[in-house]
Amino acid sequence: METVKVSASKEYTVHIGSGILESIGEKIKEIKRLCRVVLISDDTVFSLYGEKVKKSLTDSGYSVCEFVFPHGEDAKSLENFGKIMEFCAENSITRTDLFVALGGGVTGDLTGFAAASYLRGVDFVQIPTTVLAMVDSSVGGKTAVNLNAGKNLCGAFYQPIAVYADCETLNTLPEETFNEGCAEIIKYGMILDGEFLTFLQNNDIRENIEYVIKRCVEIKRDVVNHDEFEKGERKLLNFGHTIGHAIEKCSNLTISHGNAVAIGMVIATKGAYEVGMSDEDFSDTLIPILQKNKLPITCEYSAEELFRASLSDKKRSLDTMSLIVPEEYGLCKIMKLPVEDLQNFIEKGMN
Ligand SMILES: NC(=O)c1ccc[n+]([C@@H]2O[C@H](COP(=O)([O-])OP(=O)(O)OC[C@H]3O[C@@H](n4cnc5c(N)ncnc54)[C@H](O)[C@@H]3O)[C@@H](O)[C@H]2O)c1
Repeated sequence: METVKVSASKEYTVHIGSGILESIGEKIKEIKRLCRVVLISDDTVFSLYGEKVKKSLTDSGYSVCEFVFPHGEDAKSLENFGKIMEFCAENSITRTDLFVALGGGVTGDLTGFAAASYLRGVDFVQIPTTVLAMVDSSVGGKTAVNLNAGKNLCGAFYQPIAVYADCETLNTLPEETFNEGCAEIIKYGMILDGEFLTFLQNNDIRENIEYVIKRCVEIKRDVVNHDEFEKGERKLLNFGHTIGHAIEKCSNLTISHGNAVAIGMVIATKGAYEVGMSDEDFSDTLIPILQKNKLPITCEYSAEELFRASLSDKKRSLDTMSLIVPEEYGLCKIMKLPVEDLQNFIEKGMN
């Protein structure tokens, strides 16, 4: 098993391996004394792995109650957040108990925000079961639910006490969902690691999944250790996300996060070159890797629609927008763009 240590406001270890779920109870016992566990999962993941995790926790002496919700991005809502709060109160969960998020990024974000809020904070563990959740959302402590006005607009920075990524769970992931997670993997190569980018050009992600997850978690760990609360460097992780979120919003969330980020990275890369923010057009590097991993590179929305949808983005101040654009091969930089220039940037990036 591989491990990566994160030193943010809380120190914790990310464990990456195969067959972890069978003994998850004993593993958690190494860091958390016996207590009540609120196991939070969507219906799809719970039906696949819920009983296994529950049994392991119960066999280790934990008392488990589960909160299971219908899968999908819509579940990351204030409504479900409220239901979890009421569920915990009804079950007399105390501040010394534990939340366990078993699932993809939706489950992790929702559970993390609930853990940050219930009784002003209870410990929580992430058990990510999608590629995206393993390489990105389970590490770093960003938690949130969506509002009607946009994604992730209500949330908190709140770190888990441990992350357990069991790569065996990826065997049941639909191929499309696996591929969507690859967008975030490719993002790491583009923003901070040229060597890793070359590895992705020449190798298959699935065949090297444990190495790939570990490398991504290390890159994310390094960024989060320096800038947990996104004052600067952490913004690099938003490469492709400003426009990606706009695409998700225009599609009413029918385009997945990973697919939207893939298209967003292409638009940011091409747009930056066309308006002179990047000296070189790195879309020649990016597009073949995205296509190799069956990710989309275009969408049907107009530049004007995407511009309007991006105006609620958190990376926006009154009159400027932070955009992440390539500087060199395997290195991105944070640039400020006047909001009125964003539509032209997007338009150029779509040509
Ligand atoms: N907090 C962060 O830093 C951060 C970073 C990136 C993305 N995100 C968020 O993550 C979310 C997307 O995450 P996601 O792509 O994991 O979506 P998800 O959690 O909705 O999972 C995708 C689908 O796969 C199913 N699934 C999950 N694991 C499975 C498995 N092992 N086998 C079979 N089916 C499985 C789920 O039921 C769901 O239908 C978005 O809400 C995004 O905003 C958060």
